[in-house]
Amino acid sequence: MKTNVNLQPYNSFGFNTVAKYFIEIDDIQQLEESIRSDIFKNERHLILSGGNNVLFQNEFFDGLVVFINTKGIETLREDGNEIVVRAQAGENWTDFVRFTVERGWHGLENLAHIPGKVGAAPVQNIGAYGMELKDSFLQCEAIEISTGEKRIFTKNECCFGYRESVFKNELKGQYIITSVDFLLHKQTELKLDYGNIKSYLEQNGIASPTLLQLHDAICAIRDAKLPDVKQIGSAGSFFKNPVISAEQFETLKLAYPDIPHYDEPSGKVKVPAGWLIEQAGWKGWRDEHVGVYEKQALVLVHFGGGSGKEIVELAKKIQQSVFDKFGISIVPEVNYI
Ligand code: EPU
Repeated sequence: MKTNVNLQPYNSFGFNTVAKYFIEIDDIQQLEESIRSDIFKNERHLILSGGNNVLFQNEFFDGLVVFINTKGIETLREDGNEIVVRAQAGENWTDFVRFTVERGWHGLENLAHIPGKVGAAPVQNIGAYGMELKDSFLQCEAIEISTGEKRIFTKNECCFGYRESVFKNELKGQYIITSVDFLLHKQTELKLDYGNIKSYLEQNGIASPTLLQLHDAICAIRDAKLPDVKQIGSAGSFFKNPVISAEQFETLKLAYPDIPHYDEPSGKVKVPAGWLIEQAGWKGWRDEHVGVYEKQALVLVHFGGGSGKEIVELAKKIQQSVFDKFGISIVPEVNYI
């Protein structure tokens, strides 16, 4: 256990928040001991994984940060076309996806290069390029904080939705995910339909991509649009894409015939928040420390020297101006701490 630790390397926005207490967890036993400790019981606590989806609003975190860094990948079952693979929560997501792709296992390739760790992936059901974590999720193991008991969560029990799960809602703050099992396949069709995947492959002379070529293409497409957090602080998409009624969409379409959209199975329509923010004039906006990424308006960025409060203020202004222009409320997908 350490005291007064600067969390700057542990949050992808790169804010200089100091934690009163900080412990790094390398194995499950250490985690079990830690949640039984007096400090854990008496202080405010935060379970921190990759820190890619958090916004520290204050300069001091008055409590204990538990940083999950457990490692390990094992194949649990290999059966005909199916593979079940388990990854410990602290495994780096990008490295894990690459590991599966290199072995020819399908299921996670479109989720390549998403910053973060395995244990956080189910919490917000990470998604990109036409794929979501839930598509390959089998089950996860978690520890209940109040009792220290282990529990398996099946896919159904996780109640996955768009950037949602039971861990963000009913069970928020109650469990710590320790490992995730994925059901992958040796052969299956590649998902090439989202956005500019096909055009990118064509431009690069790839007619029918291999699994690895698709993985590499996704990495390149992401790199072109999203900032490298080693250089510019961000938490990826800051807001969720709003889902509006078909009637509201039809009205919007009269004014903006080219508005991009995705029809939802419910009959509602999902509209890209990045487009709304760009139309409201924010794309590329910046002041001294924070701004809106010039290549993707859904990403708020920290250029250095700023504070979480500046992002909070910027987010409020963007929400208000999108609401004033379109009558649509956009909500953050990032967790405010
Ligand atoms: N758009 C604009 N201006 C912008 C950004 C986007 O007009 O500044 C338009 C694009 O032209 C396109 C549409 O909005 O027509 C969608 O854009 P994009 O494909 O970049 O995806 P997104 O909806 O903005 C989502 C995820 C990303 C994920 C991409 C790719 C959410 C909140 N975000 O973004 O996830 O990488 O799709 O699948 O659903 C993340 O969650 O951190 C994240 C990066």
